[in-house]
Parts: sequence; structure tokens; C-alpha cells
Amino acid sequence: MLRTVVLVSGGGTNLQAIIDRIGDGTLKDVEIACVLSNNPGAYALTRAKNAGIPALCLSPKDYETRERFNEALLRKLQELSPDLIVLAGFLVAIPEAVIRAFPMKIINIHPSLIPSFCGKGYYGLKVHEKALERGVKVTGATVHFVDEGMDSGPIILQKAVEIPDGITPQELQQKVMKEAEWLILPRAISLIAQGRVVLSGKTTRIAP
Ligand code: GAR
Repeated sequence: MLRTVVLVSGGGTNLQAIIDRIGDGTLKDVEIACVLSNNPGAYALTRAKNAGIPALCLSPKDYETRERFNEALLRKLQELSPDLIVLAGFLVAIPEAVIRAFPMKIINIHPSLIPSFCGKGYYGLKVHEKALERGVKVTGATVHFVDEGMDSGPIILQKAVEIPDGITPQELQQKVMKEAEWLILPRAISLIAQGRVVLSGKTTRIAP
């Protein structure tokens, strides 16, 4: 059983996709041990509670400094002792100490085809606004391992989504979630649970 901890900040539709795939049996041998949010108002926490999954909030606002928050986050994750940490719309920079403590055990979903529209300042709706501003005709989503850089770790899965003329950033965000994110995040977790994601330096391959 792959023991996962899912980190969230907002609506939690990606968390819901994971919960649903575990529920319908598509995602086998995977359990969500805990859902952790930095934001007490995150609807993702309600989704976790509705599914009977332990949920907790660690807010930077409750700590004197960012360092204290980072230490608390590391301590909590070590306590939970996950095999895999899933960043499902977690909009807090992961402290280096956490990355060092869980090397290649943290994955992130990003709403573009990395290396386009990623890195500092590219998160949530902003990614889609930038894609539309640039006028690209295809975008998508990426699941990747988290390393010390910003959206720079080895890519596990990507899925492309076509951009129709006249679409709004909000509509594009929904389209990318529906056609890409909610599919490839559970699929990547499943591949990891099956031991099929093989790392080789900065790249991965999927074993048959
Ligand atoms: C998702 O679109 C996810 O890809 C994005 O935040 C959204 C969270 O939605 N993450 C990033 O932009 C990370 N750089 P959700 O809470 O409904 O899953």
C-alpha cells in the first residue's frame, strides 16, 4: 500500500479526482493518510472530511517566522511518514529541508506543458492568463517530481489540451483540469504505486 499525504491550498478538485479513483478501484494499493492545507478555508479540507480522510491545517500565519512554519511542516510530514507527498494545488514553496528529507518522493501537478508557463509567479489562473496572452494553441498539464528548483524536476506525465479561440482564462482552467489534470494526477500516482516510474537523471521512463 502506497501511503500518500496530499497537500492542498484551495478547491481541491485534484484531491477529489484522487479520492474518486481510489473509490472506484482504478487507483489500487494507494491510501491517503492525511490531507494537509496551509489555508484553513480551503474547500479541499471539507472534501477530505467528507471522504473520512484525516485533514489538518498548518498555516504560516500561526508561526512567528517562515522558518518556524517550515520546521513545523517538516516535522508534521516526518511524523506522517508518507511514501509519497502529492502537491495538488499547494501554493506554498516547498522548503528545501522538506525536499531533502523526501528526495523524489514529492510530486506536483502543474497546469501547463512544462517548460512552458512555469516557474516563479506561474500558478493557478495566472498560468492560463499567460498562455492566452501569448496566443498558444495548445496547452495542458504536467505531473513532475519536485526538486530544489521551481517546476524543474523530472517529468512523469503530460497531457495536451487544445485552446479554442475566444475562451476565457477561467474556462481554460476548467478545460485543462477536466481534460488533463484530473486524469494524469491519479494515473501518475498509480504508476508510482506499481513501481513503474523509473528515474534516470533528469528524466523518467514508464516501465511496461
Ligand atoms: C490546479 O489547476 C493545479 O494545477 C494548480 O492549482 C490548481 C488547484 O486546483 N497548481 C499550480 O498552479 C501549481 N503551480 P484544485 O485545488 O481544484 O485541485
